[in-house]
Amino acid sequence: MCLIVLFGGSGDLSRKKLMPSLYNLQCQGKLSEDCHVFAIGRRERNEKEYIKALKEGAFSNSRLGGDERAWKSLSSRIYYRNFDFGDGAAYERLEAEMSKLENEKGLSGSRIYYMAVSPDYFTLITDSIGKAGMNKGAKGSYRRLVIEKPFGRSLESARLLNCEISRVFPEKDIYRIDHYLAKEMIQNIMGIRFSNAIFEPLWSRDNIDNIQISVCEKDGVQGRGGYYDGAGALRDMVQNHIMQMISLICMEPPISLEADEIRDEKVKVIKHIEKIKGGNLKERMVLGQYSAGNVDGGDVAGYRDEEGVPSDSATETFAALKLEVANRRWKGVPVYIRTGKRMSRKLAQIVVQFKTFCQIHGFEPYKEPMPNLLVIRVQPKDGVFFQFNMKKPGSTEEIVTQQMDYCRSCEYSENTPQAYERLFEDVIKGDASLFTRWDEIEGSWKIIDEILSGCTREEQNMQFYEAGSMGPDESEELLQREGRRWWNI
Ligand SMILES: NC(=O)c1ccc[n+]([C@@H]2O[C@H](COP(=O)([O-])OP(=O)(O)OC[C@H]3O[C@@H](n4cnc5c(N)ncnc54)[C@H](OP(=O)(O)O)[C@@H]3O)[C@@H](O)[C@H]2O)c1
Repeated sequence: MCLIVLFGGSGDLSRKKLMPSLYNLQCQGKLSEDCHVFAIGRRERNEKEYIKALKEGAFSNSRLGGDERAWKSLSSRIYYRNFDFGDGAAYERLEAEMSKLENEKGLSGSRIYYMAVSPDYFTLITDSIGKAGMNKGAKGSYRRLVIEKPFGRSLESARLLNCEISRVFPEKDIYRIDHYLAKEMIQNIMGIRFSNAIFEPLWSRDNIDNIQISVCEKDGVQGRGGYYDGAGALRDMVQNHIMQMISLICMEPPISLEADEIRDEKVKVIKHIEKIKGGNLKERMVLGQYSAGNVDGGDVAGYRDEEGVPSDSATETFAALKLEVANRRWKGVPVYIRTGKRMSRKLAQIVVQFKTFCQIHGFEPYKEPMPNLLVIRVQPKDGVFFQFNMKKPGSTEEIVTQQMDYCRSCEYSENTPQAYERLFEDVIKGDASLFTRWDEIEGSWKIIDEILSGCTREEQNMQFYEAGSMGPDESEELLQREGRRWWNI
């Protein structure tokens, strides 16, 4: 079994997500008793106090509640060490300590290095791991690197980062996290598509009118204004989560469920997304920034008044785009995407709108019915919604629209692993299907880079929208121009 080294072990992500996930795995008997965790932070901390704080975090953040026995076992295998990431000698000390433990306990020498740290440290830590020889284990063991988002902030910086980490770890041992991929309904996209005879044969330009992907948040920048202002909605949400959703919804069936077979198909979709450049930007993109408004009955500040945000910031907190996957299956089908902060609803979903049924002779009284919609709900509810038409009961010819709404979390909530739990399990197993490969990241950065660098500020069409709305009016117009609308289901 492996050692897990959590760089940033005292940070927010470790406290709220990573340690509770390891605890959940322990509760379910999915974490080997031979798995030890080294948590690395900068500040000196009393290890007992640190572990006590972890316990509170794990018990309050876990869906499984407090299991003293499981915690006792896990916590006896957690060690807190502090050093500055820039201190090269500290890695050698850590290596010596870990090797000693591995020898004493007869462990395999397999290790997972998890970067729960600011992206500024990704290269420094990886490089130091390499210099201390921590990237190479004994024959039969593995050394894996898990890296949090964001992976670069442009194509160039992503390439540079990739080049640096690839010097130390081969691609097969690099696990780039996009925690969206571990969300149950995102994993379920392939399940719904490839296990239902009523959907897959219709899954193309012949029957689908458009696809809409929305990832809307009510939250603002939540004290991370400084970080967010250097990113914006396109880099923070579209380049990663939304591109992954497009690729899963539009990909061809992979030959198998092997990680690389799935990723081969996903990357083809990204490569087929038609470029958006200066000339056609205005018809295909709306960027927005929230001004002061009201969310859930409470007044909230505008983006430029958030802490850490310059008063003349031109960073977008909203983006809506019309994309197209220009291959045989999808040519001509708009893929509308939108994402934003401080919107009236928290909503992550994919809507597949089918073409309206052409009238059959004799059924003219059934006027134009509403389109069939298949909605894959990701959050806050998760499940599947389907809209269809039927005749109103009685002697009338009137057609009415009905919905079937399946709530997955209502049925399986207790048994569903949290995203990070699933990701840990997969890294330990060596299953990379829910992690992004370099060519997927490179392909999606190319698209975002072209949008951001291929046009002037004016062409970017930045609009203000009131906090607590569904984004700028121009986002509605993007679809209305083409006789369509956003479905806020
Ligand atoms: N927080 C989340 O919910 C979340 C969600 C998704 C992705 N992420 C990503 O996860 C990463 C970590 O985020 P976070 O929110 O956990 O950050 P954070 O709370 O600021 O934690 C940073 C960690 O790094 C350590 N650290 C910082 N500088 C160091 C140095 N020079 N030497 C040694 N240790 C140092 C800190 O140690 P001290 O505490 O001792 O200073 C702390 O353990 C980021 O890439 C973020 O984008 C976070």
